Amino acid sequence: MTEPDQLIAAIDAAASLDALEAIRVAALGKAGSVTALMKTLGQMAPELRLTEGPRLNALRDAVSTAIAARKTALEAAALDARLASERLDMTLPVAATPTGSIHPISQVMDELAEIFADLGFAVATGPEIEDDWHNFTALNMDENHPARAMHDTFYFPDTPGSDKRMVLRTHTSPVQIRTMLTQKPPIRIIAPGRTYRSDSDATHTPMFHQVEGLVIDRGITMGHLKWTLETFVKAFFEVDEIELRLRPSYFPFTEPSAEVDVGCSWAGGTLSIGGSESWLEILGSGMVHPRVIEACGLDPEEYQGFAFGCGIDRLAMLKYGMTDLRAFFDGDARWLRHYGFRGIDVPTLSGGVGA
Ligand code: PHE
Repeated sequence: MTEPDQLIAAIDAAASLDALEAIRVAALGKAGSVTALMKTLGQMAPELRLTEGPRLNALRDAVSTAIAARKTALEAAALDARLASERLDMTLPVAATPTGSIHPISQVMDELAEIFADLGFAVATGPEIEDDWHNFTALNMDENHPARAMHDTFYFPDTPGSDKRMVLRTHTSPVQIRTMLTQKPPIRIIAPGRTYRSDSDATHTPMFHQVEGLVIDRGITMGHLKWTLETFVKAFFEVDEIELRLRPSYFPFTEPSAEVDVGCSWAGGTLSIGGSESWLEILGSGMVHPRVIEACGLDPEEYQGFAFGCGIDRLAMLKYGMTDLRAFFDGDARWLRHYGFRGIDVPTLSGGVGA
């Protein structure tokens, strides 16, 4: 083999990018063998240069081309090796994956979204750190309203230079305001999320969950509210016969207002939903107060609506039989294994929302 042939063969056989780089430096580098040959052209007799010039240029080009080709091949091989090492087998059986579970609250929120989506409700959200105006004032509770005192509000310290007082939202009702300010009627939304009040015992935690419901359109009545709640409760508890009791109540942002109880029985010491032997309070509701509609820039003569607010934690306790609310937030793995849901069991109306 001649020397140039040996060089090309060495390039083609280079096993790594580093080895290839070493060959390149040895041939084409400042002190490289090909570079040295090129330098001899300067001292050559003109007639010799005439033949040697093209020969040496061709040699240098051949070496460069061979190096570039080998480099591409080595890079492609490195990429293939990396892709092969990072390969994930998507066909592995589910049992081999870690056994986390869906928290009952997340499960119930998914169930609510599924049930209300079927009735044409979208899911809306709002911030948990809310300003005083959205949480209270726009909901017909001005500075001195006595209802404010009932909320055990967590207030943030005043921000210097700002007259906005921030709170941890005490209910999901501010999402009513945010929705009416940004969407045109007809509005049909539910707003599930975290809420906060300074309260703690077996049935109260400082952080809890509510779902708000809001419908705004022309000609909405209490009848629409009652039908919607009945349909929701039947679907949620998966019973065809239920009794609802609407008790007159008071909320500053609804008029008239009603607290809603669901009929149940404790026969045999266990709770079952249905009948009218006993009653469980499940939510607060009413017709959206004209002043609230007005605060959102809508004409209360033209638009009416209903709203309701319901404790999600309590719904979960009633449906899945937990007794102590505090356990929801302890993060005890044994509790989660027992009460949690499998990730692939997504609630659907066709499969039964509690399945
Ligand atoms: N926001 C009320 C609460 O937290 C519930 C409610 C919502 C009542 C909507 C009426 C209408 O208790």
